[in-house]
Amino acid sequence: MSKAQGGEQGSPTLAVVIMAAGKGTRLKSRRPKVLHQVGGRPLLNHVIAASVRVVGPERIFTIVGHQAERVRNAVAATGVQFVEQTEQRGTGHAIQCALGAVSGYDDIIVLSGDVPLIRPETLEQLWRFHQQQAAAMTILTAAPDDPTGYGRIVRGDDSARVEAIIEQEALKSEQESLPELLPKSLKEINTGIYAFKTAALKAHLSSLTAGNPKGELYLTDMAGALQKAGERVVAVKAENSAEVLGANTIAELVALDGAMRMATAQRLMASGVTIFRPDTCVIDAGVEVEPDSIIEPYVQLLGNTRVGAETTIRSYSVIENCTIGSRVVIRQSCVLADSSVADGADLGPFARLRPGCEIGEDVHIGNFVEVKKSKLHKGVKAGHLAYLGDSEIGAGANIGAGVITCNYDGERKHKTEIGEGAFIGSDSTLVAPVAIHDGAYVGAGSCITRDVPAGALAVGRARQMTKEGWVEARRQRQKTEKRS
Ligand code: UD1
Ligand code: CA
Repeated sequence: MSKAQGGEQGSPTLAVVIMAAGKGTRLKSRRPKVLHQVGGRPLLNHVIAASVRVVGPERIFTIVGHQAERVRNAVAATGVQFVEQTEQRGTGHAIQCALGAVSGYDDIIVLSGDVPLIRPETLEQLWRFHQQQAAAMTILTAAPDDPTGYGRIVRGDDSARVEAIIEQEALKSEQESLPELLPKSLKEINTGIYAFKTAALKAHLSSLTAGNPKGELYLTDMAGALQKAGERVVAVKAENSAEVLGANTIAELVALDGAMRMATAQRLMASGVTIFRPDTCVIDAGVEVEPDSIIEPYVQLLGNTRVGAETTIRSYSVIENCTIGSRVVIRQSCVLADSSVADGADLGPFARLRPGCEIGEDVHIGNFVEVKKSKLHKGVKAGHLAYLGDSEIGAGANIGAGVITCNYDGERKHKTEIGEGAFIGSDSTLVAPVAIHDGAYVGAGSCITRDVPAGALAVGRARQMTKEGWVEARRQRQKTEKRS
């Protein structure tokens, strides 16, 4: 972890400011833009995570405004500081609101809360360049295939210098009035990420005016303003333009989400995991998988899921916040949440783990078995069509097809205990609270309401009645009735 926070041996002190007060009008959503998710995490959390790697949370100032409380709450755990921009009057105004909080730092890096794929390495690159150039303002730029919608960089005479940033809506009229601007030079975009000398900002930020179609104060106008004031304004290009794309519409968010998930899949594949058809898988950024595991098409690995080595996850399984061991097989279409699965277990197809399950080593859970808040010790087998809720099942127990733990009495949940090596016959109902002790057998079709001692057989069903010759006897009876 690198910390470019400076402040030692006379190096300049650095803070990070993240602009996250905007509404995100173009998303047409009630949720604030920076809380929309890519890669399973809000945009703002990605930006904070990258910034923390550069300066640490106590030097990150997040500007909140639209639904400020909701945004604060969503990221409070990261330990960053907050600045209020009560009225959203543009990016320049946002920084005006933050200036007081950061005036003690020599320099600031400004980030946009809606540019989530930014890497700490790129921020370091920006910071190094800013220092080398002794610039008042350094703009991180990029050259994506389609620059539409972004502010464009007008380069100056030397290789690094910038004349101005022209916003998309002003581009046409500017080009008409300034025909000397080569269209080529206007393909370089402003990423919305900058480094500033705090003193230079302080001196000129109040000069911004709202003379643009949106009637906002644009931070981008600082490029021209500082340059005219004789300050050095430079640009440095990000190597990878995909990393600095912004998200203003749902379509752009979905594209970023795809890019981020592909990056996660690539990271896992580089570490020895086989992912067939990675474009069809949904893998959240924080997921870890150990080498030699295989992930089939259309798998979703979500949240903080961890998967061990040599495990196979077959198609259409959705696994959220689970810890899966090594040499596990999760067959097709399993749905697992907030549970752990130990080494060598074999689940599915069509198995469901609801939150709170601890599945032991070598356990087998088969088709249409639902398990909730239960602990299954080593080698338990529940092959077909069962519901196991609020239960603890001892090692090697065998649960027949159709077994149901009746854990709910309409008001409260009760526990079912099944001992080691117990055998529960098919289609039995176990009315909790109830215990079937070690090695006990329950006959198929039983309704068990009382504890079964170790080694006992319990059969709780009506005795079978057999009437020999009954079918022929009835036929004769019916014939006689018809005649009379
Ligand atoms: C901005 C830049 C544009 C750049 C693009 C890169 C300006 C004027 N334009 O445009 O040159 O190419 O980013 O993605 O800056 N925000 C506030 N308070 C406000 C307004 C915005 O905090 O009053 C925040 C938003 O929440 C957002 C960020 O600032 O996170 C950028 O604002 P946005 O409206 O998305 O700017 P763009 O139009 O994308
Ligand atoms: Ca934006």
